[in-house]
Amino acid sequence: MSKKLVVANWKMHGNLAVNQQLIAAYVHRLLPFNNIEVVVCVPYPYLAQMQSLLEGTPIAWGAQNLSKDTEGAYTGEVSAGMLKDFGASYVIIGHSERATAYCESDENIATKFMQARTHGLTPILCVGETLIEREAGVMERVVAKQIDTIIHMYGAAIFADTVISYEPIWAIGTGLAATPDQAQSMHEFIRNRISVHDIDAAQRLKILYGGSVNPQNAVQLFVMQDIDGGLVGRCSLNADEFAGICRAASETGLPQV
Ligand code: PGA
Repeated sequence: MSKKLVVANWKMHGNLAVNQQLIAAYVHRLLPFNNIEVVVCVPYPYLAQMQSLLEGTPIAWGAQNLSKDTEGAYTGEVSAGMLKDFGASYVIIGHSERATAYCESDENIATKFMQARTHGLTPILCVGETLIEREAGVMERVVAKQIDTIIHMYGAAIFADTVISYEPIWAIGTGLAATPDQAQSMHEFIRNRISVHDIDAAQRLKILYGGSVNPQNAVQLFVMQDIDGGLVGRCSLNADEFAGICRAASETGLPQV
């Protein structure tokens, strides 16, 4: 078992003043939890602010997207190297709010995953099914396709030391989280899918659950064998709620040091 990981996804929220207060509260409230890893993923313009506020603290920071290209005439895009310039160490890739709104293909997402790895960023790959797909019983097929695209393009070893976040689309921002059993079953499926090709990579992969994680449901989720932490949207905008989720990760994870 490795350290549990809790990732805050601020989405398109915040401003300089609000961020400063929220980060001060994070740093203060998360201090006791020294057996977990915490990352905050912010809109691009605030990466410099995160660098100045978080350098020297145990909290890492990252972005919510990156370009699939390294450099060039791609107006509005931001490259992996640019994220590195501001000390980012993580990047969310393929979040459903982007994949749906901006029609990202699985191939595009796979290329971004590779870009992140090549530049020393830890990708957090989001996978998950819609409600219609779950009701039709094809959720594993949908998630398998998202993962297999990366395996086919780059090989399963690329998943070592990266993060996959299982995010059922019907659970994101709805207040209706997956049950611990539903989440565990998909997490086990994901780990097995990679393990078939590369046991070492599957063991070194962290699999987070995302979708309406809150301080009340976090312990039941995090205690499951294949759930290595959470990707947290709404509750990451409130330091008390976020700290409650981090406490759950701390209590269900490795012993405190
Ligand atoms: P939520 O968002 O916690 O607000 O459901 C999760 C996510 O989109 O990562």
